[in-house]
Amino acid sequence: QDQLTTTLIGKELLVFPTISSTNTKAKELADQALIGDGAVLISEEQTAARGRIGRTWNSLKGKTISLSIVLKPDLQPAKASLLTQLMAAAFINSLPENDSVKVKWPNDIVVNGKKLCGILTEMSSELTKIHYVVVGIGINTNLLVEDFPEDISSKATSLAILQNQKIEPNHLISQFLKEFETLYLNFIESEDPTPFLDSCRKASAVIGQDIYLLKGNERQLAHAVEIDDEGQLLVQLAGETDLTPVFAGEISIRGL
Ligand code: BTN
Repeated sequence: QDQLTTTLIGKELLVFPTISSTNTKAKELADQALIGDGAVLISEEQTAARGRIGRTWNSLKGKTISLSIVLKPDLQPAKASLLTQLMAAAFINSLPENDSVKVKWPNDIVVNGKKLCGILTEMSSELTKIHYVVVGIGINTNLLVEDFPEDISSKATSLAILQNQKIEPNHLISQFLKEFETLYLNFIESEDPTPFLDSCRKASAVIGQDIYLLKGNERQLAHAVEIDDEGQLLVQLAGETDLTPVFAGEISIRGL
């Protein structure tokens, strides 16, 4: 808390040694109005972390950071998913060296195709009003190659592996929350997502690549062309000239 230089994000800060899931807890507390706009929940370990599309997320005590931010923006609910991209941009911008750190649209941060962070955004809303959004990120900080189970080691990495040094979590968190706040306050005031979408475009692991769109057991080849101003990925399907937006579906980058 002492290291935080933010005015909104993290003013309410809840730190847990272990928890089921920071996103689940954030939603529970926000539902009861026990925490408000800008509240941050951090845990060193989660026992029931959740990922996108029902996936799980592994966290290991002291070697990963699990962090969720509660937001109550006055935005149309359709814009809430942009906060995933805002989170990704804030994380990348807060790293001292980030050239190899890429965003795998929509919610993974990868290095050489290996996962460094996963982001999960959840919302409680009515048709035209957001009650709250919880944006959660799991960051692999001090995991070493030998910490990963064999089947995961070719698919995951950590900041310690990337930077070849131990990561000081508090420093990382305060830099990250500061960057998040700058992007977020600018976004809710201007409603212009360009600054953080441009960071995601610049660091995209997907734009310009041939990808597979995975729908159930089917996969369809496509070329990822751009991320539009709604944060949607626009792809060119094999044999078509028009661009098609990709919504929630899962994508895999060809050859990775
Ligand atoms: C994914 O890979 O599909 C997303 C993983 C998101 C994990 C983070 S860790 C903090 C927050 N709490 C959760 O239960 N999940 C997110």
